[in-house]
Amino acid sequence: MIINLVILVVLAIILLTIWFNYRHNDVKWKEHEIDVSGLRFPKGFLWGAATSAHQVEGGCDRNDWAIWERSYDLNAYPRIKNGQQSGKAADHWNRFRGDIDLLKQIGANSYRFSVEWSKVCPQPNKLNTSVIDHYIDVCQYLHHSGVNPFVTLHHFTIPDWLYERGGFENPDAIHYYTDFVGKVAETLGPYVDYWATFNEPVVYAMMGWVFGKFPPGKKDLCLAARVLANILQAHYQAYHILHEIDRSDADDDGIPCKVGIVKNIPLFDPARKWWLPDWIVAKTLHRLFNQSVLDAFIAERFKFNLWNVVNFSQDIPGLSNTLDWIGLNYYTQYLCRLDWKSDYKMRTYPNLKLPQTDMNWAIYPAGLYRSLQMIGSFGIPIYITENGIATEDSGLRKDFILKHINAMHEAMLDRVDVRGYFYWSLMDNFEWAEGFDKRFGLYHVDYKTQKRTLKDGSEIYRELIQSVQYKQHD
Ligand code: FCB
Repeated sequence: MIINLVILVVLAIILLTIWFNYRHNDVKWKEHEIDVSGLRFPKGFLWGAATSAHQVEGGCDRNDWAIWERSYDLNAYPRIKNGQQSGKAADHWNRFRGDIDLLKQIGANSYRFSVEWSKVCPQPNKLNTSVIDHYIDVCQYLHHSGVNPFVTLHHFTIPDWLYERGGFENPDAIHYYTDFVGKVAETLGPYVDYWATFNEPVVYAMMGWVFGKFPPGKKDLCLAARVLANILQAHYQAYHILHEIDRSDADDDGIPCKVGIVKNIPLFDPARKWWLPDWIVAKTLHRLFNQSVLDAFIAERFKFNLWNVVNFSQDIPGLSNTLDWIGLNYYTQYLCRLDWKSDYKMRTYPNLKLPQTDMNWAIYPAGLYRSLQMIGSFGIPIYITENGIATEDSGLRKDFILKHINAMHEAMLDRVDVRGYFYWSLMDNFEWAEGFDKRFGLYHVDYKTQKRTLKDGSEIYRELIQSVQYKQHD
């Protein structure tokens, strides 16, 4: 009897493992044969680069990161590598005109940037008009340069006064956020058609409330779930506010306002494909990081479960009708394994057989194709809102750009509706907890002089934008 049961269980494990392997769609192309001039894109495809206010502007001294950068952990170590602070960053606040010229020089027709909430609203429900005037100047200069503004409303930072009130842990943050969104829509609406409500909500919640690497530095999955639920509620309300207020069509395409959210999709694959527990870990992490938020936009219910650690579920009625597009940030793949010694018994690490970036992220272009396939099922336009590499090696950067754009193109050939690609980042900048050492920029920044120089490895992006073919009709 027992023997039969054991045989049955072993058989089930084998069959399940075979099934997972069979369903696993790893893709491979002849990447050494990429012919840039053979790539074809729809007319009006957006080519651009992305930044975020705190990482490039400088003078962001009234937000949670300003406090975080000056604080220490329980072992008296600074929060940021080597105690660095964002300070003047890339001084983009003062140099935005020159930076927009740099975008033009590579042939880009769009720019993704964020407005700094703590500058726009230095106090609750108060608008700083001179800050708004600055962003209007940015938008006007973009317009004059023929570059489309793509605006992110929340890119990881919150004002210090909201930080003191618990940030997105506190449901009041929803009201403060929508008040800010309304003010920005009223003033920048005439210049902007593309709005991203939030950048990478799951990364934000995990880094701040699970790994403790971003403010507020907590380690509590239940709080992370609450933060995410509040963010989804805030997105829902912001979507409607933006559509109500922004009725001017800045780019003359007949649609005044297109609202989306930006989702980072890391790929989670089993470290050992023949070992069922690794598959379970990979699928669990995929559910937590990727599916929880994506499914909420289909089911109108946000579920965040991890064994007996967290069991969260909240209805968000109406959420399914609040995406005009979806943004994909793609960087890497993680190998996953069951590990009794790690937190939550799960360990992830990069595939060391692949080339690595300075972030210790494995370079895996097929992951871009796979994540595009994943969100392609939403049936709405997709923008790759971030994809890029931190490296000092020009050959690696060139290869990265070429292979990822090729992977995107492959997905498009397979009918995934991709409408734009933004390289992260326009120039080197303050990479959050890593400080300034990790250089993602197309342009190198000398922080002593603030001089920008196009990196050798970035030339390919310029060449590519200029040599790809455009289809008139699909
Ligand atoms: C993303 C962030 C962006 C940048 C890149 C490297 O998760 O959105 O600000 O830090 O990673």
